[in-house]
Parts: sequence; structure tokens; C-alpha cells
Amino acid sequence: MSFFHPLMSNNILREDLDAVINFIKQRDPILTQSSNVQAFEKEWSQWLGVKYSVFVNSGASANLVTMAVLKQLYGGGEIIVPPLTWVSDIASIIQNGFDPVFVDINPRTLCMDDKEVMKKLSDKTKAVFITHVQGFNGLTDRLLKTLKEKNIILIEDVCESHGATFKGHKLGTYGLISNFSFYYAHHMSTIEGGMVCTNDKEIYQIIRMLRSHGMVRESTSEDVKNKYKDNHGDLNPDFIFAYSGYNVRNTEIGAVIGRNQLKRLDENNEKLRKNFKLFLDNLDTEIYRTDFDLKGSCNYAFNLVLKEADPEFRDRAEEVMGNAGVEFRRGSSGGGNQMRQPYLKDIVKKKEWEKYPEVEHIHHFSWYIGNYPDLGQEKILKLCKVLNST
Ligand SMILES: Cc1ncc(COP(=O)(O)O)c(C=O)c1O
Repeated sequence: MSFFHPLMSNNILREDLDAVINFIKQRDPILTQSSNVQAFEKEWSQWLGVKYSVFVNSGASANLVTMAVLKQLYGGGEIIVPPLTWVSDIASIIQNGFDPVFVDINPRTLCMDDKEVMKKLSDKTKAVFITHVQGFNGLTDRLLKTLKEKNIILIEDVCESHGATFKGHKLGTYGLISNFSFYYAHHMSTIEGGMVCTNDKEIYQIIRMLRSHGMVRESTSEDVKNKYKDNHGDLNPDFIFAYSGYNVRNTEIGAVIGRNQLKRLDENNEKLRKNFKLFLDNLDTEIYRTDFDLKGSCNYAFNLVLKEADPEFRDRAEEVMGNAGVEFRRGSSGGGNQMRQPYLKDIVKKKEWEKYPEVEHIHHFSWYIGNYPDLGQEKILKLCKVLNST
């Protein structure tokens, strides 16, 4: 089906494909993880402003190995997480034996409400796993200060917010570990892909191993390799498995596309920011919420949130969008309130989700629609006209 306004358009360009073609034209190119992956990781680290990055095959894999390394280093406990996020943020918590603790969102950022986070902190809290939802910043001074004082780990999911900032620094540089996704619908794409970023040397080495079956030879540290070699003389040093890891590697092709895409990310992000502002400036404020906190934001989506909780109006709006060929996702990120999902039925009591009114409103009365660099003013104004006509 073709849409007048799809969720994403033109995210992998002819020039990216040409870069791939040039790469595979070489004699005997290595296609599995090799020098382009290494170069992409280095370039990404420089762009973000961290010491280390590990390229994986998805944002969900980034979440998974992040929770796995936390479990290895710090043991179990509670992890604070929003109900408005992607399934893999919560699944990775559960899969690693942590207990998710949910916190309602701030309607102006769609990210966890920092006051609510603070209420849920306890001596069982191992980490706060924040999601910067759809380009909005979820950090506050108050939150960072409290976590520092209480010695609680911050993990940032930046899968939806590449290039967004807090106090002039990119999101993904504040947490102990941060995660990015390069799925097609995001600010940039490697077809499928993700990145795990950190300044911590030990975490970096473990994540490298977890990415490749837990294999010690994937470490870049001679100390780590020698330690395992010396302690396991009965094992072939090429095949020592330090952790029960995964295979979540990406490929050289993904890295070639990523390196090419990274060159235009900042320029594209500027366009996304302008588009979003124009979109909000032209929405009917009687119908839609437009009072988002845009400071530092960089949205690959247009957030459409009804002011009133009116199911009939909601259904009419979906009909209008459908008829006009506007592709939409109700519930914003990940389909709204994750607490309602069947995979959590043994963890979240029935109706418990009703205690989270802000995310409930997003679940029932909001959508995300596409924002991409080449939209142009005319198309955005036309889109607003359609949306205001409900
Ligand atoms: C917040 C968040 N985390 C993780 C992911 C997972 O990323 P991927 O689709 O690359 O697995 C997504 C996906 O859109 C996401 O929005």
C-alpha cells in the first residue's frame, strides 16, 4: 500500500547503495564483521562523544547485551523502566532476571516523570533504564543528582533520539551504557542495526564478548585474554567462552551503510527539528496537545496527542487519516502502555496499568506519524490541514 504520508521515506539513499556496491565490487570482500564495523564504531564514538561503541544487529540486541552485562557485574534487583517504550527494553530486563518497576510519563516529554522515578527508588533499585521517547530528552538535573547521590546506575535507551541533547551534550553520553537503533524508521539506518556505547573499559570488553558467543578472543584487551588463557590451560585460546553469550553481530554491509549515513546525520537532524516545529505550529491547539518540551529534542516522528480523552473523536481522526493516506501508529512508541501486553501477564496485575494515567492517555488517544528530512514545508502544511479537519 502506498501512502501520501508514510511513517518513513527514503531513509536509505541511492548513495548508500552505491557505497555498498563499491564495497562488494572489491575482489573477495569480507562481508562478516571486520574493518568497516571497527571503523563505524570509532566514527560513531567520535560523533556521540564516548570512548567505546559496539555495533550489533539491532536496538533490541543492544538492550539485551546491556542488561546482560549489568547482571554479570552487579547481580539482580529492580530496574526502573517506563511503560511507554519498546518491548525489548522490558523483555531484556526480565530475560536477565531483573524485576521491572514501572513509572508513569511526563506528558510534555513522553519520557519517565522524574518525580515519579524518585518515588520508586529503593534499596533494591539496581538501575534506571530511561527511554528518550521519539526524540525527546528525559533527563533532568534533579534526576541525575539523585541517581549520583544514591549511587544508582543510569542506562539510556536512545534508540529513538539520535542527536537529541541535554544541556548541550548528546543523549547517550550521560548513562553508564547507552543504546541506539538503526532500524529503517529511525534517524538513520543500517537496514537493521544497533549500537551499545560506554566510557567504561571493562563493560566494553564484556559487551564485545557477549556480542560473539561470550568468546574471549573478541576482547581487545591482552590482559583479559591472558587472564583466561593462563587460568584455562586445557582450552584452545581461540575457543574460550567466558560468558553464556549471544551472536548479535552485524555485517560489513551494515557498517558501510552506517558510515555513509553518519556523514549526513547532523544535517538531517536539523531538518527534522525544523519540520517538527512547523508541524506543531500549524496544528489546531483546540484539538491537539502542542506544549511539548522541545529543548534539545530531535524527533523522527510527529507526535499527535488528543487533548480530550474522546474515543469517538479518536476513531474519526483515524478514519480521516486513513482516507487521506496518512500512515499512523496508535499509542506512539511501541503501541502505548506496555503494561497491558500479554507478555507481562505474570508480572503486572490486571488493571494495574490504570494507575498510570499519562501513559494510558497516550495509549488510547495518540499516534505517531512520520517525520523525515525531505518532507518540505508544503507537505507539512497539507498534513496539518488534514489533521485539523477531523
Ligand atoms: C526505545 C526503543 N528501544 C529499542 C528498540 C529496538 O530497536 P530495533 O528495532 O532496532 O531492534 C526500539 C525500536 O524501535 C525502540 O524504539
